[in-house]
Amino acid sequence: MLALNPLSLLRPFFSLLFFGGLSSMSLASDQSSFPDIFRQSYLLEQGVNFGNALEAPQEGDWGIRLEERYFDLIKAAGFKTVRLPVRWSAHAQEKPPYTIDPAFFERIDWAIDKATERGLNIVINLHHYDELFKNPSVHQPRFSAIWEQVSSRYQNRPANLLFELCNEPHDIDSDRWNQMILEVLPIVRSTNPRRGVIIGGTDWNSLKKLSELKLPESDRYLIGTFHLYAPFKFTHQGAEWIPGSKAWLGTQWLGSSEEKECIRIELDHAVDWWEKNRRPIWIGEFGAYSKADLPSRCRWTEFIVRECEWRHLPWAYWEFGAGFGLYDRLQKKWNLLLLRALFPFFAFPKV
Ligand code: GLC
Repeated sequence: MLALNPLSLLRPFFSLLFFGGLSSMSLASDQSSFPDIFRQSYLLEQGVNFGNALEAPQEGDWGIRLEERYFDLIKAAGFKTVRLPVRWSAHAQEKPPYTIDPAFFERIDWAIDKATERGLNIVINLHHYDELFKNPSVHQPRFSAIWEQVSSRYQNRPANLLFELCNEPHDIDSDRWNQMILEVLPIVRSTNPRRGVIIGGTDWNSLKKLSELKLPESDRYLIGTFHLYAPFKFTHQGAEWIPGSKAWLGTQWLGSSEEKECIRIELDHAVDWWEKNRRPIWIGEFGAYSKADLPSRCRWTEFIVRECEWRHLPWAYWEFGAGFGLYDRLQKKWNLLLLRALFPFFAFPKV
């Protein structure tokens, strides 16, 4: 049953206390000063994904390369957090020791620096490692070696860099995924005992499978995540990578009471998970593809954000400047209607 979490009432107080503290922590290497995970989870508020850039096979392959001004743009728009999808598996050796290409690592350093220099929080994940799910036993050592390198490289970064173990595990069952987590998490923890680590369930980070996660009880620095794309036939109409989705073109989202109720039920389940597991939860992706009509996209986005807000569920919109995008890179302008669905008081772009 849904009930207001008492912690959420203390949120403004925590924010003051904690955000004040964070800036002075920027040189900290000792994670003993990291705040508890509920305070860390406040860093995830109002986020946007830099999708299609660093999780493409090579950056630029899917049309977008990150530019420094994008960080200024999202900061000025009011976002507090960036989720950076990263396809590490395309930049690591195939064989032991699975070394990550130094030039690629520097590119990720650059993105982290650009975010944190502007006071943005950043989540780096491991995205599109599809081979891992096709053959988990063969790829587990490489998965672990990638996280060993990533987590040790960034161990001295402040608490506003968070890790997400794996985007959208799929084609494996929850038992297997739970086992994989148990193997990789201690590697991350050996260098990052208190950094926020985000983990979602199988079936492409579905909310349903989140409840099958068996996270180690003693690890109190974990955040659950799920992706919200319901109704899928609306959000993914005409998506070239979803077979059969052309037939869904023209699906609208009118905000009827039934449509709203479906989303409310999902969000209530997310709050249930949070209360039952005593762990924060984050919506790492939600968005509707640009082939859907704009009024429906705005209605859907706005409804989700408002419903998340009173539940104190942090979110990250999918995504900045590609097919679901808020920003038109060619015309160099925001889709203001969509941006206002996220931030109703957003007036004019400052950059
Ligand atoms: C997932 C996929 C990404 C896709 C998005 C929306 O994050 O990894 O490639 O664009 O969902 O379908």
